[in-house]
Formats: sequence, structure tokens, C-alpha cells
Amino acid sequence: MEPAGVALERKIIDPDTYFDHNRPPANLQRTHDQVASFLEKHKASSRPIVLVTSGGTTVPLENNTVRFVDNFSAGTRGSASAEQFLSLGYLVIFLYRENSLQPFNRHYTHNQKGLLDYLQLDNGNVTVDPAYMEQVKSDLLKYLSSKDRLLQVTFTTLSDYLFLLREISRLVAPLGSQAMFYLAAAVSDFFIPSHSMAEHKIQSGSGDLTLRMNQVPKFLRPLVKNWAPLCFIVSFKLETDVKLLEPKAKHALEKYGHQIVVANLLNTRKWQVWLVTRDQDPCVLQISKEDLDAGRDIEQDIVAELARRHKEFMSRDA
Ligand code: PMT
Repeated sequence: MEPAGVALERKIIDPDTYFDHNRPPANLQRTHDQVASFLEKHKASSRPIVLVTSGGTTVPLENNTVRFVDNFSAGTRGSASAEQFLSLGYLVIFLYRENSLQPFNRHYTHNQKGLLDYLQLDNGNVTVDPAYMEQVKSDLLKYLSSKDRLLQVTFTTLSDYLFLLREISRLVAPLGSQAMFYLAAAVSDFFIPSHSMAEHKIQSGSGDLTLRMNQVPKFLRPLVKNWAPLCFIVSFKLETDVKLLEPKAKHALEKYGHQIVVANLLNTRKWQVWLVTRDQDPCVLQISKEDLDAGRDIEQDIVAELARRHKEFMSRDA
């Protein structure tokens, strides 16, 4: 007999029917309203806009979730990229996993040093430790000068992510080529639909637990075809075997028909990526170990190159 918490379906679920069978997140309507008013506020600016997705999705094992399956993504790529897009004048919607890294604030969280390590008490007043003054000032200036162009939305589970992605895509889609999608989140390929999940905490009394998970349909297909067909779409491809990287990136481009895949390997992703398109040889971007150690982000190069290509894409459309 199958233990509780096991998904029984084996078929691949159609992306269009996914939403009929899974629960929307609590922040769906609020996000709709926030995105709509963000777009309205900046309507006259004609700035390019990017949706950056960031961090890993969780896959709950119980509806009243005690346990879940997660992945490694800390949101470094997404948060560093959001900073770069802001520095280039973009409006940024940052859809990120709750408690993962956020633009600008990332320098003061999830590190060996926490915020309090940058501060000192000076005659009863809290001030910045002079050793960090230049760094804090520079980060704060960048943050304050772009805060108004940044809208942050959180997700936790795979299902939250997919509902929010669809909602935001539909709101952004009317902007056509002016909008870029930068899909850096590490999205789970397997899940347990809510109706097959244990309602309550899976009990350990019955011994080993065997899980069978359904394959998550690829949401790039409806995104490119239906939700935002005129936008500039950048997906990511993560592999651990270099031999698979380029063929799989090319395959995704053929299959979904979007503009670019940023391909990366788990162990070298912080200093090397490949920009893959349908018709050209891959363009390799990499930074040296010295630059990496000195705190330079490869996202500076990735975003600069993508913004350049996005500009060309917009001008073809003009
Ligand atoms: O956060 P960091 O620690 O900095 O790590 C950054 C990163 C390695 C997570 C990032 O650079 C990256 O590669 N993100 C994509 C990882 C991933 O999901 O790769 P994939 O090969 O499983 O999926 C490829 C694409 O299909 C992704 O753009 C994803 O949005 C999309 N997808 C995935 C699953 C799914 N069900 N539907 C999808 O459309």
C-alpha cells in the first residue's frame, strides 16, 4: 500500500489545468494590485521594465506543511542582477523567495557579518563603524536612488511562484517589447499536487516514507506563447554536466521559441555563464578569480549584455 503523502498521478500535467487543481497564494490579489499601481505610477516614464525571478521554490509534502523539499538557490544571481538592472535605469519587479537575498540588503544579510557588526555605539548614539562607512554609504545611496523603481514580491512554494508568475506576466504583457523576463529562480521540476498530499503531518510510526512526485509542467511554454508573447524572455539553464549545457539550452530555445538562455553550471556559476541563442555560437562571459575575490559580480556583465540585446529587440519593434 502507498504511504500517506504520496502522489499517485504519473502523467505530465497540462500547464493550463495546473491552476485549477492547486491553491493560489494568500498574496495573489495584493500582488495584482501592487503591480497594477506600480505600472500605472511609472506609465509616463517609458523606461524598460524587467521581471526578475530569484531563489528556489519549496515543494510541500503536507497541506498543513511541516516538511518540504527545497533546493540550493540563495538568490545571489537574481538579487545582484536586480541591482544592475536598476543601475541601468530599468523598472524592476523582483519576485523572490521569502528570506532569500534581496537587492542592496544582500550585502548585510546571510553573511558571516550581520547588520549589527557594521554599527557602533558612540556616546549612546548608534553610528556606522568608520571602517565600513564608505561601503555602507555607497550601498545606501544606490538603494535610495532606485528604491522607487523597485517592487518586491515574495513567494515560498512552487505553487505560489507559478500563480504569481502568471499574474504578473499578464499585467506586464501589454508593454510588449519594452518588458524583459529574467527567469533566474530555481524552479522545482517535481511536486505533489494539493489533492494528493497528506492533509496533516506525515506520521513516522509506519516506518520508511516513499514519495512519488509528479513532473511540473514547463511554464515557459504558456509564458512565451500566451501570457507574454511579445516580451523579451530570458530563461536560465542549470546543469552539473558541461556536455549537456549547450544542447539543452538550444533545445529549450527551439521548443519554447523565446530569445535567450543563460546557461550555467552549478560549480562555476559565480564566474562563468554562456548566453545561448538559436542562430549564433554561445557567447561566454567570465570574470577572473581576482575579480571574484575582490567582490565583483558577474551579473554586471550578464545584465549589461542582455540590456544591450533588449535594446536591439525594442528597436526592431519600433
Ligand atoms: O540563486 P543562486 O545561488 O545565485 O543560483 C543561481 C541559479 C543557478 C539558480 C540561476 O543562475 C539559474 O540557473 N536558475 C535556473 C535554474 C533552473 O531552474 O534551471 P532548469 O534547467 O531546471 O530550468 C530551466 C528553465 O525552465 C528556468 O528558466 C525555469 O524558469 C524554467 N522552468 C523550470 C521548471 C518548470 N516547471 N517550468 C519552467 O518553465
